[in-house]
This record gives sequence, structure tokens and C-alpha cells, in this order.
Amino acid sequence: MQKTNDTITIQPGARLRGRVILPGDKSISQRALLFAALAKGETRITGLSDAADVRSMASCLRRLGVAIDTRGRTTWVAGNGLHGLRAPANELDCGNSGTAMRLLAGVLAGQPFVSMLTGDKSLSRRPMTRIITPLQQMGAKIEAADKGTAPLHIHGGRLHGIRYTLPVASAQVKSAVLLAGLFAEGETTVIEPVPTRDHTEIMLSWLGADFTKNGTHLTIRPSALTARPITVPGDFSAAAFFIVAGLLCEGSEIVMPGLGINPTRSAMLGVLAKSGAAILQDEPVDRNGELTATLTVRHGPLRAFELDGEQIPLLIDELPVLAVLATQAHGTTRIRGAAELRVKESDRIAVVVNNLRAMGAEVEEFPDGMEIPGPQRLRGAHIDAFDDHRIAMAFAIAGLVAAGETTIHGAGSAAVSFPEFFPTLKKLREDG
Ligand code: S3P
Repeated sequence: MQKTNDTITIQPGARLRGRVILPGDKSISQRALLFAALAKGETRITGLSDAADVRSMASCLRRLGVAIDTRGRTTWVAGNGLHGLRAPANELDCGNSGTAMRLLAGVLAGQPFVSMLTGDKSLSRRPMTRIITPLQQMGAKIEAADKGTAPLHIHGGRLHGIRYTLPVASAQVKSAVLLAGLFAEGETTVIEPVPTRDHTEIMLSWLGADFTKNGTHLTIRPSALTARPITVPGDFSAAAFFIVAGLLCEGSEIVMPGLGINPTRSAMLGVLAKSGAAILQDEPVDRNGELTATLTVRHGPLRAFELDGEQIPLLIDELPVLAVLATQAHGTTRIRGAAELRVKESDRIAVVVNNLRAMGAEVEEFPDGMEIPGPQRLRGAHIDAFDDHRIAMAFAIAGLVAAGETTIHGAGSAAVSFPEFFPTLKKLREDG
């Protein structure tokens, strides 16, 4: 593996062996910081991710007057209660993080001050109308750029509860509305026709919010949060790259302790089990309402799979690397109902299809997915990650099973969710 600035070259033919400690889950880390900031008292967070997205959330909260202090694996957040945020002197830069922007918008909608949320080039292209609409219904005033994108000017104020059916399956939108509901008069109900990751609901319950779940109906009433220690599980979406690498590279065996296996995040495991994957899981342990376990993955042959409908939100972030895996599986893999991929950090359908084609693969593109026959021989190529962390990492894994070397341009973007990804991959090869 050779590295220059933002470019990394991957040599094929790896055998990966060893134990990997994954970074703290990115979604849970961001929620832990935000919810701790709104709680009364000091929260101790263990295992917070130091990914760029999580740093973006921390820096926005600091600008809102919250003290956050990290010492080793422990982070302390001094919560000032629901009404303890102060007006920021400057804009709040969410960097690349859609979660930071959308969840913060929910909180800021209920504050007695004006704030502005900004983001990088990629985040400034992503749709924000999906949160603006329900927050405006609750009484907030929000101005966005013409296309309904950032920067967002939020004139916070008095909100009232609403009953809102989510038009897109999005945990970020669900969370924005529930967070605004903490500050609203009366009760706020979000109806979620299709389940999405439920970290917000779990954490609201853990911190004592007046929150109830009744089937697809999630209801919150204005209520205080109380500081309680939070342990962040290992990030399943980061582990997904090594799960696929371990399955594809001959002679591999990778052990991943302390991984989050919340069923709304780990649907990929069920898909892989049906495809014939050898993945062992030990007895799950509950960490502040989130399930964790040790996973052991071994190389073995795989069958193609079909994904559609309700499965998609439960493995949305794993789709780029699952598409790479599909090129090596026996049969034709079909991924449909995944149009949301087009509005992630990049257009992940177009970028995955084009990069797989650059590696010589046959792939058919659909507006909402792709079809990939397998197994196919990949050849090393120049890959543009389009500054999308999951594309950089997925194609590094593709490079391990390609003929010839693969160069990833924009490899530095891995730091958005997994700063140690390339060093970890290198270490697994050295131990292999
Ligand atoms: C996230 C939810 C998902 C996911 C993103 C993180 C979250 O996005 O793709 O990486 O932390 O809530 P959507 O809610 O927009 O689908």
C-alpha cells in the first residue's frame, strides 16, 4: 500500500488476519454529544468516534456554549439542560455531516435565537427540504438556498407539536422532528411507515425523555433529559468493509469485538448469512440500550442476493461495499428501491456503477439501484472517490481482489467516518 497525499495505491492478493477495534459508531457518537449537551449534568461518553463528522458535531456544540473535553477514550460533556444553549457568534459549520446538520436543525428550531448551519460542497448539495417542511409546520422559520439546500438560516422560537408521517425513510428526518418535539408545546408524533435506524429513540429513552413508541408511531412530549453514562458501540458500517474483505480474500480471518449489532443497522448480516457467509457472533451485550457483540469473519464462497423495499434503509450505508462483494458472488445480484443512495455524500449509484465499470465489471444501472452478475474478474484501475468516504473504502476492498494495482484518488475522505481505515487494513495484511 503506497500513500501520497490524498492518493493510495492498493496491491491485490491480500490475506487479512487479526483483531480489529472499530471506531465508535458515527451515528451514536453524534447523538451522544448532542443529547448530552441537552441533558442536565455531566455525561461521560466512552469510546466516542474521532471521525471528522463527529468532530463537526462537537465544534458546532462548542459554538453553542457546550464544554466538551476528551481524555483518552473518555469524553466529558457539560450539559446545561434543554434551555442552556447560547446564541452562536458565527455560523455553525457541519462539514460533510448530514446527521450533524439535520439533527442540529431540529434542536435550533426550538431555540430563542437565530443561527446559521453551513456545510462543505457535498453537504451543500444535499436535500434539506425534508427537514425544513416539518420544522416549519411546527412553527420554525427557516431559510435555505434556492434548491432547498444549505446554508440554513434558522430563526428559532416557540414550536408546537405536530403529527408527521415521514415521506422518505430517513432516521435523520425522524430525529430532527423528535428533537424539535422536545421543545414544542404539546405532543409530537412521527409516523414511520418503514423502519430506519433507531438510535435516537434508544437514547431518548436512556436519558429519561417522555418518549413512547407504539408500532410505527413515535411520540415525544417536552421533557428534561438527565445525564447518564454512554458507551458507544463499535461502528457496524465501518466494520462492513472488513467483513466484506474477510469474506473475499482467501485465507482471511478477522475478529471484531464490541461491534454494534442493533438490528436496524446490521441487516447486512442476515443477507450475508443467506448468501452462505461464515460469520460467527458471540452472546450480545447491552450497552445503554444498544446491542453489541464480537463478530468473526472467515473467507468463503458466496451466492448473489436481492435487496429491495424495507430492507434498504437497514443497510443503506453498506450498499457500496455490498456492490463490490456482488461482483465476486455466484449469480446475479439485484439492488432496487435504493434511490436515496443518489443523495448521499455522492450519487452513490452513479459513482459505484462507474467505478465498477472502470475495473472492467459488467453492471446495469437503474434509477433506484443496480444489477451485478458474478463472479467477475476485476482489474486494477484509477478510482475517483468523489470525496465520499464510503466510496474510497469500498473500492480499496475491491482493489484487494482485482488483478493489478488500484489507485484511490480522494482516499483521505475515509477520515469522515474511519480515520484509521488504511492503517488498519495495512496491519491486517502484515499479520495475514
Ligand atoms: C444516519 C442516517 C442515514 C445514514 C447516515 C447516518 C443517522 O441517513 O445514511 O449515514 O445518523 O441518522 P438518512 O437518515 O438520511 O437515510
